Amino acid sequence: MSETPNERSRGPGLIVALDGPGSSGKSSVGAAAAQILGYRFCDTGLLYRAVTWLALQRAVESTDTEALVALVAAVELAPDEEGRLARVIVGGVDVTADVRAGSIDERVSEVARVAEIRSALLSRQRALARDGRIVMAGRDIGTVVLPDADLKLFLDASVEERARRRAAERGIAPDGVEAARILADLRRRDRMDSSRPVAPLRAAEDAVHVRSDGNSFDETVAAVVAQIRSAEERAR
Ligand code: C5P
Repeated sequence: MSETPNERSRGPGLIVALDGPGSSGKSSVGAAAAQILGYRFCDTGLLYRAVTWLALQRAVESTDTEALVALVAAVELAPDEEGRLARVIVGGVDVTADVRAGSIDERVSEVARVAEIRSALLSRQRALARDGRIVMAGRDIGTVVLPDADLKLFLDASVEERARRRAAERGIAPDGVEAARILADLRRRDRMDSSRPVAPLRAAEDAVHVRSDGNSFDETVAAVVAQIRSAEERAR
C-alpha cells in the first residue's frame, strides 16, 4: 500500500487539507492563512488546469487517456515570490496566467474526470505534502489525496456568491452576459466535480465546514487560521 504523508515523521506544523467547490476562496483564503501561520500553500487545481491547457495546446482529446497521462510529466508547480506553490511551469515556461483563463474553466472538469489523470497526479500531490506544514487546497484532498491529514477543512459558499466573487476578480460587471456565463459555468463544474465516479467533490466525514457567505475575506481567513491553531494545540 502506498504511504501517505501522515505516516512519516515530519517537522513541526500540520498537514491541512482544504477542499471546496470552485471559487469558494480556497486558494486566496488558503494562501493568506498559510502565510499568517508560516505554512506552505499548494493549489492542486493548478495541476488539473495545467494538464488541460497542455492538452488544448497539443490538441489531445480528453478521451485519449494515454496521451493525456503523458502530459503530466511536463507540468511543474513552482513557488511564487511569497513561497506559495502557485506558479505553473510547462517546459520551463511560466503559464500561470494562461491556465486561469475562461477557456480552461470550460474544459478542466472533463480532464479531471479521467481516473488515470487523477492517479498520475496523486503521487505528485502527496510528495508535495510530505514535509508537512502545508495547506493543500483542492476537491479531494481530505478524502483521497491526504486521508490522514491532521486537519480537514471544507470551505463553501452559495454558487451565486461564488460567481459574484469570480466576476469581481476578473473585473466583470456583476449583471452582464459574461457574469451569467460565469454562474452557469460554476454550476456545471459543481455538477461534474460532484458526480464524477472517481474522487468526487465532497467533504470528508471528519472535515470541519467553513461557510463564507456574507463573510469578508479577512473574516474567512481568520476562521481558517483559528481552526489550524486549535488543531495545532490539540496536536501538542
Ligand atoms: O480549484 P480550481 O477551480 O482551480 O480547479 C479546477 C478544476 O480542477 C476543478 O473544477 C476540478 O475539476 C479539478 N480539480 C480536481 N481535484 C482537485 C483540484 C481540482 O478535480 N484536487
